[in-house]
Amino acid sequence: MPDMGPRPTEEISDLLVEDRTFAPSPAFAKAASMRDPDIRSKAAADMERFWADAAGELDWMRPWDKVLDWNPPNARWFVGGRINASYNCCDRHVENGMRNKAAIIWEGEPGDRRVITYWGLYREVNKFANALKDLGVKKGDRVAIYLPMIPEAVVSMLACARIGAVHTVVFGGFSAEALRDRINDAGAKVLITADGGYRRGQILPLKHDADYAVRETPCIQHVVIVQRGNFPLRVVDKRDHWYHRLIQNAANYCPPEPCDSEDPLYILYTSGTTGKPKGIVHTTGGYMTGVHATTKLVFDLKPTDVYWCTADVGWVTGHSYLVYGPLAAGATCVMYEGAPDWPDRDRFWGMVEEYGVTILYTAPTAIRAFMKWGADWPKKHDLSSLRLLGSVGEPINPEAWMWYYEHIGGQRCPIVDTWWQTETGMIMVTTLPGTDAMKPGAAGRPLPGLSIEVLNAAGEKVTIGGGLLAITKPWPAMLRGIWGDSERYRTQYWSKWDIGTYFAADGAKVAPNGYITFLGRVDDVLNVAGHRIGTMEIESALVDNPAVAEAAAIGIGHAIKGQALVVFVTLKEGYRPTATLESELKDHVVRKIGAIARPERIILSADLPKTRSGKIMRRLLRDIGEGRVLGDTTTLADAETVNHLKQAYEEGEE
Ligand code: WT7
Repeated sequence: MPDMGPRPTEEISDLLVEDRTFAPSPAFAKAASMRDPDIRSKAAADMERFWADAAGELDWMRPWDKVLDWNPPNARWFVGGRINASYNCCDRHVENGMRNKAAIIWEGEPGDRRVITYWGLYREVNKFANALKDLGVKKGDRVAIYLPMIPEAVVSMLACARIGAVHTVVFGGFSAEALRDRINDAGAKVLITADGGYRRGQILPLKHDADYAVRETPCIQHVVIVQRGNFPLRVVDKRDHWYHRLIQNAANYCPPEPCDSEDPLYILYTSGTTGKPKGIVHTTGGYMTGVHATTKLVFDLKPTDVYWCTADVGWVTGHSYLVYGPLAAGATCVMYEGAPDWPDRDRFWGMVEEYGVTILYTAPTAIRAFMKWGADWPKKHDLSSLRLLGSVGEPINPEAWMWYYEHIGGQRCPIVDTWWQTETGMIMVTTLPGTDAMKPGAAGRPLPGLSIEVLNAAGEKVTIGGGLLAITKPWPAMLRGIWGDSERYRTQYWSKWDIGTYFAADGAKVAPNGYITFLGRVDDVLNVAGHRIGTMEIESALVDNPAVAEAAAIGIGHAIKGQALVVFVTLKEGYRPTATLESELKDHVVRKIGAIARPERIILSADLPKTRSGKIMRRLLRDIGEGRVLGDTTTLADAETVNHLKQAYEEGEE
């Protein structure tokens, strides 16, 4: 009989009286790979040693001379070491007896299936790496990837890594214009796309959008098209190439490039506080060390696991915990192309049952949607294979946590609520599933080998109560810069306090036992359904429309999405506020950025409230938005605290 929770734990329940905490079940704790309750203090005694040991679990082509070279804000990890990410994700497993193990169990939305073994992955990555070389891609060149959730997305990333090319994956939900801007910023030479992909029974016309983008990307020399369906498209002679033809003609083996530990592995664009997304640069040795170690530690990964991270490869979660972390660890990964409610609302649970998924890593916004759809959907399936659950992307509210724990985890699975960012590359704050008690709503403590604190604006340590999250020592998977903008890297992340302290732009509070509760962003970045969107991006997109004089975007609490996007717009002379114009403006944002940024509401107003210095008073707009639109408070327990933090932060900026 497995031990059934929930069971409050003594040590922390007296510190957090009103809240319930949950201990991992003895059965889970006993079998967990990490059972040392002192792992954090041991790692803290010699952090470089801790990360060097972690790096030692990867295969290096040349050992490093020095673990860390820290010249704030620039870090170099495993200096002098040479390593190849695709070798670590494919070749070494093929050589170590896992040749026939499933690497990817893929399901398309229409129900088609493919299982790719480590050997199969190795073979395809080698061939495609050669194909890219044949197209003239060299070490250091950038390659843009605009694909649906199909195995070729993983193959493309690993093929780039194999030859030392730098990939930049653009989420398939971004518009043609957003794709164009990212391609141009990165200066990509090749674009890999598909004829289309399935989403809720519809076809995402990726190649169509790619064609539109490529009209204005002089850097692109070739376009590779994966045939996902049989969707109509235009093939441009000499520029466009079918993926399957390239594979057919490519040689079987491509030697992995011995990359310097600090060679860039990828650029991933994310939203910041200006209208222009930032190209976050991740490098090779430290990043691979960080994601490999945390995949094993946080998910308690074992050789027999069937691991399913539901994130799209277009986001950092897909990069770190669908591709690089789990594949370097030799995991069997489930990958799904489509929507969770297609054809029915039990699609995920049918897949968990069918493939015997043991670890599920998903987002609070999805969990809240499942909650709304009701527990009858998961109840239709046998979910007893599950042994660990994860959450990522935004704070998980205690109600959603409890629902996940009971209805998906059967009160038997620990939940790891993992806090991190595109910039951190790897999970930073969570509970260790075999040893740490869980407190719904609090992410947990910093992982071993990390130094994280909650500071006030003056940089003083906050031991109880609200403040700002700070990372006070470098970590291996940290971003190395913003592509083409080292000044922005310094000012954005390393100038809030002293130059060696990273500013995460997250509000946080810390309990006496060190548990951190995240309160949301304190800058003008929204988190809509787990997607990061900058208010300035939305505003710039809107003022580009001839009807718009001024725009102010705010996030308001939303029961499922966490935050919903509401924009206040003033019109230029001669334009009248109509429902048609409102919907035209929504479409305009979708065209500029993508469907993920479609505003929930656009409020056409005569004027916007401003301070004497001319700054839009967002806090007032938020109040209006919250009161008038939903009459509901945010799902965050600490909405007020974060509003105050935001206010303080904004005032500080003036
Ligand atoms: C922002 C980063 C991390 C990969 C996916 C999102 C928020 C993320 C949590 C969590 C509370 C969280 C933060 C962070 N966030 N995970 N477990 N609890 N907040 O990556 O798009 O770079 O967004 O997501 O606000 O700053 P991202």
